[in-house]
Amino acid sequence: MEQRSLYTILENAPLAQDVFRLRLLGDAGWIKRPGQFVNIALAGKYLRRPISVCDWDGDVLTLIYKVVGSGTEQMSRMAPGEKLDLLTGLGNGFDAAPARGKKIALAGGGVGVPPLYGLARVLSRAGESVCCVLGFRSHADVFYEHEFRALGCDVRIVTDDGSCGAKGFVTDVLKSLDYDYYFACGPQPMLRAVHALGKEGQLSFEERMGCGFGACMGCTCKTLTGYKRICVDGPVLLSGEVRFDA
Ligand SMILES: Cc1cc2nc3c(=O)[nH]c(=O)nc-3n(C[C@H](O)[C@H](O)[C@H](O)COP(=O)(O)OP(=O)(O)OC[C@H]3O[C@@H](n4cnc5c(N)ncnc54)[C@H](O)[C@@H]3O)c2cc1C
Ligand code: FES
Repeated sequence: MEQRSLYTILENAPLAQDVFRLRLLGDAGWIKRPGQFVNIALAGKYLRRPISVCDWDGDVLTLIYKVVGSGTEQMSRMAPGEKLDLLTGLGNGFDAAPARGKKIALAGGGVGVPPLYGLARVLSRAGESVCCVLGFRSHADVFYEHEFRALGCDVRIVTDDGSCGAKGFVTDVLKSLDYDYYFACGPQPMLRAVHALGKEGQLSFEERMGCGFGACMGCTCKTLTGYKRICVDGPVLLSGEVRFDA
């Protein structure tokens, strides 16, 4: 179920290199699960920009975004008090139930990290113990290490160049962990590598999107049960249904 509403910017501040945290005041009641996303309308842009929900609490919604093009650059220039038009409650989100009582690993890469924060909060409040492997290119790109720790998670940082935490990829750290269920979000090569480790879990795909509501087929992903649209059938898919061979 989705809802279109206006939100007021409370904060839009840099967190890391080209990465901003946007805190919005408005109706967060349509968000039911971590891993759902919002679609943001921007002046002069035909297509809305999808951004994962990082966290939500009462009427405050937190998003984290990286400036990669003209839309996100436009967002980065917005100031507290300005309004944003959002579609919220989009996507299926992560289902925490299958992980209950298991040894859980969260694997995030870059701007795939934000939706895992809301999930870590839900899992921690449910008493689950969670290990989070957060991967970034370099030290300047790292964010939310302390926020995950504050939830009680065991946090492992890994960077491509070794300038913060371990050197290497998320999967290098995952291989050394004892876990039996995972949740992952990040770029496709990372998701493919996490999936290839063969454990059971859920993967969130931040594919390029067109319409964002299931009409254009611009976000399709091949699964064992046919093609799925990331915008309406995802963004979260089960490890058992994902196919990376196509
Ligand atoms: C379900 C979903 C959740 C997302 N969550 C987040 C999030 O929490 N934080 C965040 O920073 N980004 C997230 N993204 C990606 C975000 O939507 C894009 O980065 C954004 O739309 C780019 O808009 P732009 O106008 O700045 O860039 P554009 O001008 O549209 O593109 C600039 C460059 O970015 C690349 N690009 C655009 N969209 C994507 C994408 N989806 N994935 C990879 N590369 C892309 C383009 O190929 C191009 O090279 C998410 C995407 C999806 C589909
Ligand atoms: S973006 Fe159009 S169908 Fe998914």
